[in-house]
Amino acid sequence: MTQIIAIAMQKGGVGKTTTTINLAAALAETGKRVLAVDLDPQGNLTQHCGFDPDHVSPTIYNTFQAEIDGYENNIRNAIYETAERFHLLPAQPELSMTELALINTLSRERVLLTILEPIIGDYDYILIDCNPSLGLLVVNALTAATHVIIPIQAEYLAARGALMILSSIETVRRKKLNPDLDIAGILLTMADTRTILAQDVHDAIKEQYGSDIRIFDTIVKRSIRFAESAAAGNSILAYDGKSQGAEAYRQVAKELLHNP
Ligand SMILES: Nc1ncnc2c1ncn2[C@@H]1O[C@H](COP(=O)(O)OP(=O)(O)OP(=O)(O)O)[C@@H](O)[C@H]1O
Ligand SMILES: [Mg+2]
Repeated sequence: MTQIIAIAMQKGGVGKTTTTINLAAALAETGKRVLAVDLDPQGNLTQHCGFDPDHVSPTIYNTFQAEIDGYENNIRNAIYETAERFHLLPAQPELSMTELALINTLSRERVLLTILEPIIGDYDYILIDCNPSLGLLVVNALTAATHVIIPIQAEYLAARGALMILSSIETVRRKKLNPDLDIAGILLTMADTRTILAQDVHDAIKEQYGSDIRIFDTIVKRSIRFAESAAAGNSILAYDGKSQGAEAYRQVAKELLHNP
């Protein structure tokens, strides 16, 4: 069974894209067949994988257009091999217009699932990098997904309503768009271990959101290597495979493999 994992959180800059590429690389390293999907018009994942969002074509934008306008478009043409054994379905800036185009589309929440359907069986894992919002593209990701990973910056926890994404997940389940959607876990990123104690963070989440919410044991610490690898167009596993950051994402992959 293919796991389709949406990496989603409404707040910007919490590590969604970083988690998507590095988890993709870590899962691919274990021999899994992995597709990373850039569902963010910013195209950060596309860039991080070494592609130019302004010039790569076709992209997920074209497959959405084809689906919305009802013409033939083979999704396989928009899937590219990366240098790191996983595949990429890239984005381009025009994807920002898709959000609007979807509004008047029939079954507008299910378009991404329809697009992905022909290739789901080709992969063990499909990771979807979401944009920082609760808009229709994110709802499409939550509808297509079997699981969600919610990355958050450790310091952000104190804020009330921090995890608004949880309400979107609940809505998607309740409206029967995706009743079985599972939260794979909250992933704490950019932790500064000098100021934050892991246990405090866990306790704060449990207190605010209930004890049944899953949290990854692995905490991704702050490291300049992440930004460096992004600039180099590689995952941190390829950029500095022995770094603490690379090891952290290998551990996250291991947790996923062991808790299906
Ligand atoms: N553990 C980390 N330590 C230090 N820097 C990190 C870490 N994780 C990510 N970063 C850096 O923080 C910035 C934001 O990360 P990223 O792009 O993954 O967030 P995002 O949630 O995808 O943002 P957006 O909401 O804009 O899509 C990037 O420059 C990234 O390189
Ligand atoms: Mg991002």
